[in-house]
Amino acid sequence: MRRISIVSATVRAIVPAIALFTFAIGPLDAIAQGDPERGKVIAYTCTGCHGIPFYKNVYPTYTVPKLGGQNQEYLITALESYRSGERQHATMQAQASTLSDQDILDVTAYFVSIGENES
Ligand code: HEC
Repeated sequence: MRRISIVSATVRAIVPAIALFTFAIGPLDAIAQGDPERGKVIAYTCTGCHGIPFYKNVYPTYTVPKLGGQNQEYLITALESYRSGERQHATMQAQASTLSDQDILDVTAYFVSIGENES
């Protein structure tokens, strides 16, 4: 019995590690949730500030974080916390308040899909 519990504890430790590793090396693969094509349409308003390919720093007075190629979970968490008011930033709270859960999935899938050299 003891042996079995050690095995299952090991499996419990390894499976999330593999999942994390896969996520870290494969941001463009099927782990990304949401529809990047739909997200691209939503991202039209975002890229005015967050930059579009070959077109950056629309508002030089802001430090606008780069979204392209970011970890999708991170982007989702950021948008959800702006939307809930947990993360304070008037502009981004206003932006996030217009997004549904599906919009957040799709728009973040889009930013993940374009890679880190853009936006
Ligand atoms: C008017 C300019 C503007 C627009 C439009 C805008 N953003 Fe932002 N965004 C910012 C600024 C400035 C910040 C940094 C805010 C802060 O310091 O918390 C930011 C932060 C973020 C962050 C957090 C990034 C990080 O590294 O923590 C995400 C995610 C984000 N924006 C997504 C979006 C999405 C998605 C849209 C479109 C629906 C959008 N933004 C539209 C200006 C904008």
